[in-house]
Amino acid sequence: MKALVLAGGRGTRLRPLTHTSAKQLVPVANKPVLYYGLEAIRDAGITSVGIIIGDTGADIREAVGDGSQFGLDVTYIPQEAPLGLAHCVLIAQEFLGQEPFVMYLGDNFLVGGISGLVDAFRVGGYDAQILLTKVDEPQFFGVAELGPQNEIIALQEKPAHPRSDLAIVGVYSFSPAIHEAVRAIKPSARGELEITEAIQWLIENGYSVHSHMVTGYWKDTGRLKDILECNRIVLELIEPDVRGTVDGLSEITGRVILEPGAVVENSILRGPIVVGADTKVTSSYIGPFTSIGSNCLLQNSEIEYSIVLDGSSVHGVSRLAHSLIGRNVEVSCAAGVPNTHQLMVGDHSQIQVRA
Ligand code: DAU
Repeated sequence: MKALVLAGGRGTRLRPLTHTSAKQLVPVANKPVLYYGLEAIRDAGITSVGIIIGDTGADIREAVGDGSQFGLDVTYIPQEAPLGLAHCVLIAQEFLGQEPFVMYLGDNFLVGGISGLVDAFRVGGYDAQILLTKVDEPQFFGVAELGPQNEIIALQEKPAHPRSDLAIVGVYSFSPAIHEAVRAIKPSARGELEITEAIQWLIENGYSVHSHMVTGYWKDTGRLKDILECNRIVLELIEPDVRGTVDGLSEITGRVILEPGAVVENSILRGPIVVGADTKVTSSYIGPFTSIGSNCLLQNSEIEYSIVLDGSSVHGVSRLAHSLIGRNVEVSCAAGVPNTHQLMVGDHSQIQVRA
C-alpha cells in the first residue's frame, strides 16, 4: 500500500502566513501540521509516499527532504496549479501504479493515527473508504448523506444546503478503481476536479464505497481558530520536559516543555506550553495552550492561547490571546503621546485592537 499526501493548494484562509510559506507547515506545538500526518502514515506501516506540491514546493521539500527522518521514502509530484483533489490522483497515477493507497490531505489533523482505518480498508476489500464526522458547519466540507443501513446515498462538495451534518474527513483509502473515476469526471463549478465527485462516480458505477465514522478528534487546520484549537489538543497531551534554564524568580506550573537553550527569567508560565530552543522569556506571563517557536523574545508581556513562530519578539504588550504570529514579527508597545496604534502589517492580515 502507498500513500499520497496533498501539500499543494493555496491556503487563502491562513493569509498572510501562506503568502510566504505552505499552510501545511504552520506549526502545532512547534511541529508542522504535515509532520503529524507523515508520522501517522509511517505508523500505519506505509513507507512509499508521494507528496503533491505546488507553489510552496521548495518549502515542503526542505522540510521533508527524502523522508528518511520519518522512516519514509518520499517522491515529489509537482502540480502546475491547484486543480482539485481528484486532479492530484490523476497526476500521481504513474507513482501509484496499480497499488491501493491512502490519500491524506496535508492540512488535516487526526488524533489517534490511521492504522485502524488502513487495517479496516485492507480487511474490507472496498474500492474506497471515506471517513465521516459530525460538524457544526457542514457547508464548508464535502458532505455525505447516509441511508437507513448507513450506506452512502450521495456525496456533495460544500453544498449550500447540506442534507446532513456528516463531513468528509481528509483521509481516504482507494483501490486502483479510483483512476477510472478521476478520468471520468469533469471540473466542478469552482473549476476543480473534485474527489467527492469521483467517489460519487464509484458509487453510481457499482463499486463498493464504505464509510467509517471518526470518533476521535479531527480538524482541517485551514482556519485560524482551527489551528489554535489543534494546538490546544496537542498541548493537552504533552509531558513536561524542561531542558532550558529557569531562574529562581520564575514560577512554572502545569506541563511545560522548554527546549534546549530557552531561558526564563522573572516570569510566570502556566502550562500546557511549549517554548522553542534559544527563546528568551523575561518578566512575562505565558498562559495555557501557547506555543512559542525558537529564537523568540518575550519581554514584559503576557500571552495565552496563541502560537508564535520562530524569530519573533513581543515586547511590553499585554495581553495577547487567540493570536497566530508569523516568523520574524515584532510586536511592541508604542510609547509616549499621541496614544496611537502603529502598524506595518502584511497583505490580508487581521488585527483586533482594544479601543
Ligand atoms: O478537510 C476536509 C475537506 O477537504 C473535505 O471535507 C472536502 O470534501 C475536500 O474537498 C477538502 O476540502 P478543502 O476545501 O478543505 O480542501 P483544500 O483546498 O483545503 O485542500 C486540501 C489539501 O489538499 C490542502 O493541503 C491543499 C491540498 N491541495 C488542494 C488542491 C485543491 C493540493 O495539493 N492540490 C489541489 O489542487
